[in-house]
Amino acid sequence: MSTEERQALLRGAPNIIDGNESEEDAVLNISLRPSKFAEFVGHKDIVDNLKISIQAAKQRNEPLEHVLLSGPPGLGKTSLSHIIAHEMGAKITATSGPAIERAGDLIGILTNLERGDILFIDEIHRLSKVVEEFLYPAMEGFQIDFVIDKGPYAKTIKFNLKPFTLIGATTRTGLLAAPLRGRFGIFYNLDFYKVEDLAKIIKHSAEILGVQIEDAAAGEIALRARGTPRVANRLLRRIRDYAQVAKAAKVSQSMAAKSLDDLGIDKAGLDEFDRKVLKLVLESYSGGPVGVESIAASLNEEVDTIADTVEPYLLKAGYLKRTPRGRTATKLAFDHFGKVYTKEQQKELF
Ligand SMILES: Nc1ncnc2c1ncn2[C@@H]1O[C@H](COP(=O)(O)OP(=O)(O)O)[C@@H](O)[C@H]1O
Ligand SMILES: [Mg+2]
Repeated sequence: MSTEERQALLRGAPNIIDGNESEEDAVLNISLRPSKFAEFVGHKDIVDNLKISIQAAKQRNEPLEHVLLSGPPGLGKTSLSHIIAHEMGAKITATSGPAIERAGDLIGILTNLERGDILFIDEIHRLSKVVEEFLYPAMEGFQIDFVIDKGPYAKTIKFNLKPFTLIGATTRTGLLAAPLRGRFGIFYNLDFYKVEDLAKIIKHSAEILGVQIEDAAAGEIALRARGTPRVANRLLRRIRDYAQVAKAAKVSQSMAAKSLDDLGIDKAGLDEFDRKVLKLVLESYSGGPVGVESIAASLNEEVDTIADTVEPYLLKAGYLKRTPRGRTATKLAFDHFGKVYTKEQQKELF
């Protein structure tokens, strides 16, 4: 296989770190997505707390309080929502902020819920204001207010709903209106995963996919998966293709490392997009500070893509720092690209 062929093969997935679920993801996720707490790796504190809340709600024979899950794409928000439903023994209806266009859509969904059902709203920060305001009384008192007629004859009719649990997922809680945020009783922020946890996820996924993989190879992928289970699974699938074409019986560490290099994922686990962003900050803005909007505009990308997918990991991994005037590249970023970190740049950090 030539390098070009190998790269073409490895590039089967359009964008490795892209936060959105591709069609391939959607199909494979059915098998790879954890469906019980026992299969959900990591975030032990969150899982333990959720288990207690669920047990208590069940003992009281009440629905679980509304749950808000936040965190960058691919960290397990949707999985956790399904697990909660499974553990509550509840039916789950899944929708998303942008899918509920009119208040009428939401009313339809809400009035169809049975007692104890779970309504999962993904990207809840993208609900329209009108729809959001309908949700307030529904969350608080399991009621919705219909307004009939207009002007002086307008009347509000209250409609009682069956008690349900709303699980909202959002990439950034900062995007949520305070009154909405305040109506959730349970709130968890999912952080990036530890390398050991990612390695565990990769090994488990390999088993499901029928891929033989050395522990060291799983470790190599885990190190370079941006702390994100979805990325880890995507990388594993690309490497599986590579191993299959190369007729290798088992994925070795060197094979994993070579495939990751070919995918443009460097030793530090940064991919092309990460490097593009960092290089821009380093070269066009002399290390910053620079706002996310300017970064997005310079790269001709959506602000949300930078803010939800790229930036959180670069902040977490210590390549960027938040300052009142924008993002600044750290010494680690300068070092990564072999650039000299000067006194001037240090001052910008404070
Ligand atoms: N804690 C976890 N344990 C095992 N696999 C996980 C975990 N979290 C996420 N995954 C894997 O990553 C994929 C993406 O997770 P998902 O719940 O869709 O993330 P989000 O909704 O936050 O974008 C899942 O389909 C699953 O394969
Ligand atoms: Mg999701």
